Amino acid sequence: MDILGIETTCDETAAAVVRRSDDGHGRILSNVVLSQIREHAEFGGVVPEIAARAHVEALDRIVAKAMAEAGVSFAGLDGVAAAAGPGLIGGLIVGLTTAKALALAQGKPLIAVNHLEAHALTARLTDAISFPYCLFLASGGHTQVLGVRGVGDYLRLGGTVDDAIGEAFDKTAKWLGVGYPGGPLVEQAARRGDARRFALPRPMVGRPDADFSLSGLKTALRIEAEKIAPLSDTDVADLCASFQQAVVDVVFDRLRTGLRMFRDRIGMPRALVCAGGVAANQAIRKVLHRVALEAGTVLVAPPPALCTDNGAMIAWAGAERLALGLTDPLDVAPRARWPLEQVTKAATPISSS
Ligand code: KG4
Ligand code: ZN
Repeated sequence: MDILGIETTCDETAAAVVRRSDDGHGRILSNVVLSQIREHAEFGGVVPEIAARAHVEALDRIVAKAMAEAGVSFAGLDGVAAAAGPGLIGGLIVGLTTAKALALAQGKPLIAVNHLEAHALTARLTDAISFPYCLFLASGGHTQVLGVRGVGDYLRLGGTVDDAIGEAFDKTAKWLGVGYPGGPLVEQAARRGDARRFALPRPMVGRPDADFSLSGLKTALRIEAEKIAPLSDTDVADLCASFQQAVVDVVFDRLRTGLRMFRDRIGMPRALVCAGGVAANQAIRKVLHRVALEAGTVLVAPPPALCTDNGAMIAWAGAERLALGLTDPLDVAPRARWPLEQVTKAATPISSS
């Protein structure tokens, strides 16, 4: 089964072709990602209108490149998948409409994929793991702990009550003037810094749920930075290191509780899987590894390029759904908000938003 996947939820224009064999194994035939980082850099964050226009300009070319690299013709496809949400609505319209046009013109099934479901299922493409597993999804827009029991069968165990972890990294970077995108640059600066210099809070630690809160930590960091401004390079490195260490401690505690909840409600997880851009952070990966071992399971971390937004994860989620006979009508609507718990084995509802 060869599926084309299109991803335009945020600031990456991406397309890929993935092949799923009958035994459930997947292979990436092509995976083309065009990042809009340069378009948004001067604003220090993603500007929705700029993103939507950039998707319109690039998508045809990116799809053609993915098809050419895969060596597959449109007629040879078994389905066309696109991320239909959650995300920035302008980008979603561009990607989903393109997928609809291709599906209609070629007479192929359309699969409207939930972007979070695609992150959740990526480890089955890269590591062929079986259900159930615990997912830690941490990106610029999302921070969630989920029980993944099957395709279209997700249990939310916890999540952020305010900012996403990636967002907190990005804002920290902006205040400290280390640049955009913040995550990788804060991590880099943290390597040179002293994590014990600033006593930052560890919000939510010790609570019996698996929820996160980042806004208090963000504010505490800002107050510390303002106290000692103007900042030297050493100050910036120490602030980054102290911030990152606070996040690492929070992740350890919240995931430990999350895995306990998983065992109580679902059973023994096959793995702890991480996904989203934040999972590229080495310090966070290390602590996830530790918490997984402590819970008697293993950490499965897809390669960083497949943890961040890409078309292969959309194509793969499309393939997993199509293999179960789950397709969507051509009038399916994109959804800016679309919580993963609302994704079921049933087809996507057309009208809800
Ligand atoms: O999954 P992703 O590529 O896009 C979405 O947000 O959907 O994640 C991007 C986010 C950004 O907030 C970025 O700062 C963060 O992931 N990130 C990191 C690192 N690399 C990317 N955060 C911490 N450390 C990193 N090394
Ligand atoms: Zn994402």
